[in-house]
Amino acid sequence: MALLPIVRFPDPRLREPTVEVTVFDADLARLIEDMAETMYAANGAGLAAIQVGVHQRIFIVEGGAAGGSENDPPVVFINPTIEWLSDETEENDEGCLSFPGIYVPVKRSLRARLRAFDVHGKAFIAEGEGLYARAMQHENDHLINRLLIDYVGPIKRQMIRRKLERDAEEGIEYPAQE
Ligand code: NI
Repeated sequence: MALLPIVRFPDPRLREPTVEVTVFDADLARLIEDMAETMYAANGAGLAAIQVGVHQRIFIVEGGAAGGSENDPPVVFINPTIEWLSDETEENDEGCLSFPGIYVPVKRSLRARLRAFDVHGKAFIAEGEGLYARAMQHENDHLINRLLIDYVGPIKRQMIRRKLERDAEEGIEYPAQE
């Protein structure tokens, strides 16, 4: 396994299109293992492949965030589609490993149901509420190039961009964060 460098905003790779996974092989399994290790090392609740520079429709959600125990393996979503989102919404602070140190309130559907494939290419349905629903919606956003910063107004957007650009110039590394 290997730690992968996380692509941070405003890196343009976060806005490049993602493609469907068509081959479910050992390389895919290895990528997902590396993504899991990278997510755990950064204390993230989820991670999309595009955040490690791989433009495929893949994301993972940490076991605890997915409603299980922290010792559970991450839930792997390949080629996901959103089947249903509840009309009922909830606003909560949200972070992203591509926006270290930034938290913004985002209104999301309280419950979500997604259809996806696992690492073996087997179809499954995931349904969750609260944090799990939020994590699935957040990670799915990455696959369509929608980012945390798209949920804030122009002034805050400018502040976030400046801060992350400054941090990058100064080479600031972040400690473990949500
Ligand atoms: Ni994110």
